[in-house]
Amino acid sequence: MHSFQKLDSKDLEINPFQMIGEEWMLVTAGNKEKANTMTASWGGMGIMWGKKVVFVFIRESRYTKEFIDREQKFSLSFPGESHRREMKFLGAVSGRTEDKISEAGVHLGYMDDIPYIDEGKLIITCRCLSKTEIKEEDYLDGKIGKTFYADGDYHTMYIAEILGIYAR
Ligand SMILES: Cc1cc2nc3c(=O)[nH]c(=O)nc-3n(C[C@H](O)[C@H](O)[C@H](O)COP(=O)(O)O)c2cc1C
Repeated sequence: MHSFQKLDSKDLEINPFQMIGEEWMLVTAGNKEKANTMTASWGGMGIMWGKKVVFVFIRESRYTKEFIDREQKFSLSFPGESHRREMKFLGAVSGRTEDKISEAGVHLGYMDDIPYIDEGKLIITCRCLSKTEIKEEDYLDGKIGKTFYADGDYHTMYIAEILGIYAR
């Protein structure tokens, strides 16, 4: 596999709707001893507090959330359509109960001391700037609560500064 090249954000030619919403990403966090990853298809990229940031939305029940909260850093890995099967698996079972990274046959790497999934064609390393739990009373559209949070498993929004963008 080709090695990664660090990219300047102005050279990033992507469609976030396609890349996040359709092809999905892996959110990975932890340290050299232990890390976890999960599939995510909700989120975004943009500007906040004068910095280039990503937005990710992680439900309370996710094991990955414990790693993000502890390290306050994470990566986004974009393996693309060719790894659909692995991403479905990583988005269906929890690292709390299974050694899902090795079961999925994907591999951990470290960049900026942050774990990522080496099958990614693009990797973004991130440092958390804020975390906000989005509660029932925050939804302006009443249907959101009923449709997505009947079980009370709310999303926390993380706004995280982009530390590095790496492409193969
Ligand atoms: C396509 C897809 C997209 C997903 N998007 C998200 C998401 O944006 N946020 C989230 O909290 N969970 C999302 N999930 C669910 C988690 O990936 C799933 O619950 C996973 O098993 C959590 O693993 P963990 O407990 O090891 O962290 C998604 C799952 C799939 C299959």
